[in-house]
Amino acid sequence: MAGRTPLILDVDTGIDDALALLYACASPDADLLAVTCVAGNVDAPQVATNTRAVLELAGRADVPVLLGAERPLVKALGTTPETHGPFGIGNAELPTPSRELEPGHAADRIVALARSRPGEMTLVTLGPLTNLALAVEREPSLPRLLRGYVLMGGAYRAPGNTTPTTEWNLHVDPDAAKAVFAAWAAACAASPELPRPLAMGLDVTERARFMPVHLGQLALRAGAAARDSPILRFIGDALRFYFEFHERYDGFHGAFIHDPFVVAAALDRSLVMTQPVFVDVEAGPGLAHGMTVADWRGITGKPTNLDVAVEADAETFLARLVERVGDLAARRAVVAG
Ligand code: BDR
Ligand code: CA
Repeated sequence: MAGRTPLILDVDTGIDDALALLYACASPDADLLAVTCVAGNVDAPQVATNTRAVLELAGRADVPVLLGAERPLVKALGTTPETHGPFGIGNAELPTPSRELEPGHAADRIVALARSRPGEMTLVTLGPLTNLALAVEREPSLPRLLRGYVLMGGAYRAPGNTTPTTEWNLHVDPDAAKAVFAAWAAACAASPELPRPLAMGLDVTERARFMPVHLGQLALRAGAAARDSPILRFIGDALRFYFEFHERYDGFHGAFIHDPFVVAAALDRSLVMTQPVFVDVEAGPGLAHGMTVADWRGITGKPTNLDVAVEADAETFLARLVERVGDLAARRAVVAG
């Protein structure tokens, strides 16, 4: 199909990562070429198991899945079972994946894909930036080889969700994020025409609130034939856990679904408005550990290295998610039936 975006997803699956995988598989404008796994919400082998299981659920067992970094560059790994459940998918259970992981390291696959089709690939990271930091170390021209880079990470003019200043993906591996942002800073300074990464932080991703009503809308969209759809059952079981977490910590019975919003924006930039800014990451200890420090006033005089999303159309995204994933659930129910 013409006009499809060649996509590499780097994930730490995770409830909202799982929804992002389903969204990508459900999107006719996405050409999903590989999914790479990084430790984050759960440990890396569990991420890889969840990722393959979700792709099989979506009927995409053909998409290569590679294991990457099993720990952050410097600090010890911390996972978050209270947010995503003991296995990363809330109360859901999925069959053990029927296939093995692809051989090789995630970082090498990102580099190989970018080299194989220079200027064509869009990379989307939905977890800590460890794999990407390793990829940039192995191929310093990676920023120039990609068509685009989009990340879920940071809190630019918003409070953190892990510490008062810091968003989860950046908190897990601030050293990796610092290296990645520095790599793009250098590349953008050398080639001002280079597209800056699109950074979607909590400022905009927390506008995507998936509520119980959306479960009903998904079922309606999928139709009567998909009432027992494994996809709908998975989403319901996973999301119910996420709803309870957000009820405890964020005061509403629903869930921020950061990661699929980021995939949606990678496929359709009209969903966000951005502002270019120079951003660095505090990797040292202390109150601001992992904080994204954005130079909104240009005080440092450093060239901008990120396009930070400052506005985002969450309503259009949520409606699109219901349509696309609902239709995928219906198609898969027909296949199963
Ligand atoms: C990010 O942290 C993870 O828990 C989610 O999957 C998302 O990528 C939000 O801070
Ligand atoms: Ca994630």
